[in-house]
Amino acid sequence: MPKNMRLIILQTILFLSCINPFYTQTVYAQYLRDYAKVINLNFGSPTQGLKPQMMDSLSNNFNFTIPGNSLKFNMVEPKQGKFDFKFADSVVDFAEKHGMKVKGHCLIWHWSEPGWLWYYSVHGHPTREGMLKIMKTHIDNVVGHFKGRINEWDLVNEAILDKPDWDGGCLKNTHWRSIIGPDYIDSAFVYAHRADPKAYLYLNDYSGEMNFPQEKVKADLIYEFVKGLVKRGIPIHGVGLESHINNVADEFGIYLNIKRYADLGIRVAMTETDIMHSSFSPVAWTAMLNAAVANFNFTTFVVWGMTDQYSWKGRNCDCLMWDVNFERKPSVFKAVITAMFKADKKVALLRGRFQAIPADDRMPNIPDSLSVNTEGKHIELKWGNTAKAMTYAVERANTKDGPYKIVEKEIIETSYTDKHVKKGTNYYYKVLAVNPFGISQDSKEIAISY
Ligand code: G3I
Repeated sequence: MPKNMRLIILQTILFLSCINPFYTQTVYAQYLRDYAKVINLNFGSPTQGLKPQMMDSLSNNFNFTIPGNSLKFNMVEPKQGKFDFKFADSVVDFAEKHGMKVKGHCLIWHWSEPGWLWYYSVHGHPTREGMLKIMKTHIDNVVGHFKGRINEWDLVNEAILDKPDWDGGCLKNTHWRSIIGPDYIDSAFVYAHRADPKAYLYLNDYSGEMNFPQEKVKADLIYEFVKGLVKRGIPIHGVGLESHINNVADEFGIYLNIKRYADLGIRVAMTETDIMHSSFSPVAWTAMLNAAVANFNFTTFVVWGMTDQYSWKGRNCDCLMWDVNFERKPSVFKAVITAMFKADKKVALLRGRFQAIPADDRMPNIPDSLSVNTEGKHIELKWGNTAKAMTYAVERANTKDGPYKIVEKEIIETSYTDKHVKKGTNYYYKVLAVNPFGISQDSKEIAISY
């Protein structure tokens, strides 16, 4: 069925569900990606080990995919300088055909070191320069090959310790770390950003989602490390929380963990979600999604496979949305849909605007096309939709060129009604556009005599 037709059906269901919730519960299952689209969410699953009959389910339900394990270092560069993009190319073709975005997973991960790299690191008298050259060649080739087609990457994977080491450090002692030094992650981000300035680059890790005592330690380590990268001007755009959940989900803790990244302008994704005993605890799915979609900087929810049959946790895990017989789990679908359906629409709107900010050009433009009119007892100000703006602020003065004072901020619309006006007064207005990366310069001044 064409995607625009599905959207019309979804809107009808949303309308009918206001009259009777029965409609959402009976007709929901086919249209997961349409619910995600309404709240501007990337909703994904990797393409890997899927039987042909699941490919339709993949493209019907998800608007985002990952070429399975095929872009891990050992798979994509099994011999030094020899790259194999066959499977990933076919996934990108499939995704483009079905209007899905693609993420590359994962460029630098110590677990996916190919034999030749292990040999060099251990027996090859490795040097910092030699290792950096290997890293740069790898990133240049892989990111470069997919430039313009894959626009986000899990760049560095699972690099952070579960708790600080003896001197307070937070990095695992991998070959990358021990040979290059602790700034190896800075280099990876710089190389990848140069290879494709438009790609969003993520640091991905596990067990950093919640505020339960054990996990909070790691969640804080990841946060502080990312804050440091941002402060040093390293081009990082996102944090991936893997979200391999074994029992209950700490909804409020997850919400707070995601929220604190918003001020840094950092996107957050759940990148590998699977939840043990899913059919018995669908509530954990709702909790994860509730916590996530309540934040505008939460952009992407990925489930780590579709069917339990191929889960890395084993076919008995009961941890995904489809069972071993490729049947949907109604309770899990309902849980996921409920969370997406109830998501705050204002946050969703802001998420859409945040998603649209390019990776390499993030300051909001200056609002233009200002017009001002009197509307009864009020003054009505309007301006044009402004690229990279998330919200707007309005300034007012009584004399030309100021002094100006902010009269309203966090305006979502492209208009403002000034209700605090006096007859026989001159008013001057300017508008500013705002996003987490900064505030635009003032718009041109516009004047009105009331
Ligand atoms: O496809 C071959 C098959 O032909 C062969 O008979 C079989 C024998 O072992 O291996 C199969 O490949 C396996 C592949 O998964 C496909 O299932 C690889 O050996 C195995 O190493 C690979 O494991 C993957 C693992 O990462 C290592 O790359 C898992 O599928 C994948 O789910 C797992 O994903 C990781 C994320 O990348 C990072 N976060 C943790 C997560 C879980 O470990």
